[in-house]
Amino acid sequence: MPLMPPLKRLRGKRMDLGLARQWMDAWFEQLNAQKSYLSELDNPIGDGDHGINMARGANAAKDALADKEIPDLNTLFKTIAMALLSKVGGASGPLYGSIFLAFAKASANHDTLDYAQILALLNAGKDALMSRGKAEVGEKTMVDVWVPFTEQFADHAPSKDDVDALVEATKPLKATKGRAAYLGDRSIGHIDPGSMSTGYLFKALLDVLDS
Ligand SMILES: Nc1ncnc2c1ncn2[C@@H]1O[C@H](COP(=O)(O)OP(=O)(O)O)[C@@H](O)[C@H]1O
Ligand SMILES: [Mg+2]
Repeated sequence: MPLMPPLKRLRGKRMDLGLARQWMDAWFEQLNAQKSYLSELDNPIGDGDHGINMARGANAAKDALADKEIPDLNTLFKTIAMALLSKVGGASGPLYGSIFLAFAKASANHDTLDYAQILALLNAGKDALMSRGKAEVGEKTMVDVWVPFTEQFADHAPSKDDVDALVEATKPLKATKGRAAYLGDRSIGHIDPGSMSTGYLFKALLDVLDS
């Protein structure tokens, strides 16, 4: 008789509004805590503002969530999208804004998301990112974390170490999209800052799903 495959760690996990808020709060906290580091990553291959941009967006989103009633997942993600769109700026503001608008759409009419629906949410975010930014895998952008992470998530398997490895894997890539593309070969050897901020988003998700 064939052996049963091992049960994948995340199988059966669900997300309700409380868990989604914990996820977002954890991401905002990390963006603030790593503000200097994210900007440091943006120094050699960009203009050194990614941490400032993301921390400004995180704080705007926190304020917007504190200011109003958040009855459901759709309102949560839409409120965050609007704050990121209006306050982050740079290339990453519209990209993260599109991702969270797609999250809002994917979670509309759901009180909780089962695992397949969380996966659908992530895939909707990835598709919105790629249609807005027009980057493919291998161009040294956050797409290089979104695409493999959603694949691993579909397999119920990713760990925080896997996320770190995906971020690290942007280092040898040559940028062909975004500000870093102006550097050509000189973009090689540096971690992509947007991939790091996305890595924080995914590690915060794994934390809340494992809690
Ligand atoms: N076309 C794109 N598609 C996906 N991500 C992109 C694209 N252009 C830039 N990025 C992401 O945005 C990050 C830079 O964000 P940020 O520094 O805030 O904006 P800017 O480059 O305008 O200063 C990059 O590290 C990269 O991950
Ligand atoms: Mg920048």
